[in-house]
Amino acid sequence: MSEKKTVVLPVSDGAIAYAADIIKRGGLVAFPTETVYGLGASAYYPGAAKKIYEAKGRPSDNPLIVHVSEPNEAEDFAVVQSEFYRLAERFMPGPLTVVLKKTEKIDPSVTGGLDTVAVRCPEHPAARALIKASGCPIAAPSANRSGSPSPTEAAHVLADLDGRIDAIIDGGPCRVGVESTVISLDGDGGCTILRPGDVTADMLAEVMRSVRIAGAVTDPSLSGDRPLSPGMKYKHYSPRAEVIAYEGALEEMIDAANCDPAPRVGAIVPDGYADQVKGTALLSGDGGADDMCHAFFSLLRQADELSLDRVYVRVPPKTGKFLALYNRLIRAAGGKITTPEN
Ligand code: TXA
Ligand code: MG
Repeated sequence: MSEKKTVVLPVSDGAIAYAADIIKRGGLVAFPTETVYGLGASAYYPGAAKKIYEAKGRPSDNPLIVHVSEPNEAEDFAVVQSEFYRLAERFMPGPLTVVLKKTEKIDPSVTGGLDTVAVRCPEHPAARALIKASGCPIAAPSANRSGSPSPTEAAHVLADLDGRIDAIIDGGPCRVGVESTVISLDGDGGCTILRPGDVTADMLAEVMRSVRIAGAVTDPSLSGDRPLSPGMKYKHYSPRAEVIAYEGALEEMIDAANCDPAPRVGAIVPDGYADQVKGTALLSGDGGADDMCHAFFSLLRQADELSLDRVYVRVPPKTGKFLALYNRLIRAAGGKITTPEN
């Protein structure tokens, strides 16, 4: 693909208008959301989705999320049930994506050939302003090269996609740090979590009759050939460093990292533990789910900048917001969990 000049824009009215013009003409703009940066193109412009796949190096059977500035804009391209509005009232704008039946208006190239479309109304003001100014829904995956950690800062987008996209809107670091919760509606008043995120199963249960969790969320091997959420089948979020998902107490993990014979070893630990790590301590704030999710992808990128060979990360519980981290970590670690015994 031909090199282009990638312009980095601040968040301003002028920059939003400039970026919206690029979207209207079928170009590619990376923009901040509250979860991670997205790589946006018009969901209606013929051929624009193909450009996204090319820029990312992403397999074209992995469907894109279509972003709207108001939930009711989904009616333009999806079959919207009352349950969608119940969810929207509670969680939109925000980090929730709902899979709906699509209409003819959306080209199959956007949805990886599926007859469903994933809809998300982000809460970040720059994202909503861009969608509004573009006058069309925006198809956007995370703005990283396929397989690498999702970008939570404009610099991460630039590192992966400089010269491959038209512009980046720099809105600073993303609040959440992991991608949105993706759900499908089961048709019986319940829903299934296909990808966990900041909107948790307990939160969804306040609105839905039942909440199931797809097996592939915690077991990547179940992603199979016809996965419910195709993005979950690929090796994902992987830095060049080997990620060791360690199941054990924090002190045990630090011991294991300190005994690791590899030349450059790092460990993701809460702030107070920095001086216990012999190699490189990668600090994750207070160690709670919010701080861990916020820091995780950024720390994996830092590990590569420091040319680390291995990074130890403690396996979190599979509950609440930690489920999102668990899901990303086991994929980054290639599905392997290390325990004190092995
Ligand atoms: O937070 C987010 O969701 C970010 C920001 C930019 O909004 N976007 C994002 O997009 O993470 P992406 O393409 O990296 O991940 C989309 C996920 C993939 O796992 C994909 O398979 C799934 O959503 N997905 C998209 N459309 C789907 C559909 N029709 N049915 C099932 N899963 C779908
Ligand atoms: Mg992604």
